Amino acid sequence: MNLRFTEEQEMMRKMVRDFANEQITPFIEEMEENDTFPRQIVNQMGELGLMGIPIPEEFGGAGMDFTSYIIAINELSKVSATVGVILSVHTSVGTNPILYFGTEEQKQKYVPKLASGEFLGAFGLTEPSAGSDAGSLKTSAVKKGDHYVLNGSKVFITNGGEADTYVVFASTNSEAGSRGISAFIVEKDTPGFTVGKKEKKMGLHGSNTVMLMFEDAIVPAENLLGQEGEGFKIAMSNLDNGRIGIAAQALGIAEAALEAATNYAKERKQFGRAIGTQQGIGFKLADMGTKVEAAKLLVYQAANLKDRGLKCGQQASMAKLFASRTAVEVAIEAVQVFGGYGYTKEYPVERFFRDAKVTEIYEGTSEIQKMVINKYLMAD
Ligand code: CAA
Repeated sequence: MNLRFTEEQEMMRKMVRDFANEQITPFIEEMEENDTFPRQIVNQMGELGLMGIPIPEEFGGAGMDFTSYIIAINELSKVSATVGVILSVHTSVGTNPILYFGTEEQKQKYVPKLASGEFLGAFGLTEPSAGSDAGSLKTSAVKKGDHYVLNGSKVFITNGGEADTYVVFASTNSEAGSRGISAFIVEKDTPGFTVGKKEKKMGLHGSNTVMLMFEDAIVPAENLLGQEGEGFKIAMSNLDNGRIGIAAQALGIAEAALEAATNYAKERKQFGRAIGTQQGIGFKLADMGTKVEAAKLLVYQAANLKDRGLKCGQQASMAKLFASRTAVEVAIEAVQVFGGYGYTKEYPVERFFRDAKVTEIYEGTSEIQKMVINKYLMAD
């Protein structure tokens, strides 16, 4: 495939790269040390139009293509995977479901606020006993007059507690399995809806990961997204796009780890010469560089398919599977190239190592991506 980007896409890359280096880098220590949510950075991203890159202009977005959005996540994640996932979840699964499945009223009410960054979006699918098997979720929604009553809980919700709107999945017909799942737009101040404990995580410090509780939560009937029973398809089809975003985040981590390791290997001398010119480290760098290039092709191929309006589920899962593994492997090797220094917080590679792992877990584990890919292969 042709990996030449348009002038507009290159401008997006440069703008986001400069923004990340100038505005996000100084805030990394605060996020790492105190787990502080980067609210100021999210506000700035709103001002720059980054919170609605692929959202049509008529709904307040930048009206750019999906590839430009993927470029933004890729570049942000080279500096901070935390900021990368905040934007990815906000756009792919926090805003797009409303844009793609909402009524005209729902789109007018929520999308412009999300696209401008006035609102932050989140996605509530996973439950304590329904992770990979998302179709077995237990949160219930019972219609009573002009509203639904929601009961249940969600876990590992990215942007939770900071978000203004949540796309929440609940069962309106427990006997129908995944065909009984419906989607709802839940506003943060909904009566009966509360945010629970914030997880202490290995990495992605600064990104909120919380529980959500619904105790007789009253959601207006007009906030049903799509039809009753259509929720699982809404979740799955938006995860197809979401997974390209996570793959781009993983690619960003891998590229940053490769760059750090390469620069260090040029400068660090042992046995009289730069370690990068010695085979033990040189072969490592060659493997790392090759994997990064392969991941890049898969990520941008999936984005390109989406831009052309073609099916991209299989390629999205392949991109996520490969890019997330690449991020983990390249980050581990980057720590090794740095030796003892790599194990300290003096260099960023230990952060890349911690941040990389979750890309193999959220928005569908690597095992789930293999199930999805295999299903496509068997169907051909
Ligand atoms: N698009 C549209 N519809 C789809 C679809 C897709 N990509 N995939 C499946 N469906 C439809 C099927 O056509 C089927 O429809 P019918 O009932 O009408 O025939 C229905 O959904 C059920 O399909 P399956 O039988 O394939 O469903 P399943 O129960 O076997 O599950 C699965 C499939 C792929 C394993 C799915 O459960 C899955 O993706 N699990 C992982 C969950 C996940 O990714 N969670 C991420 C949470 S969000 C997150 O992590 C965000 C964050 O914080 C970063």
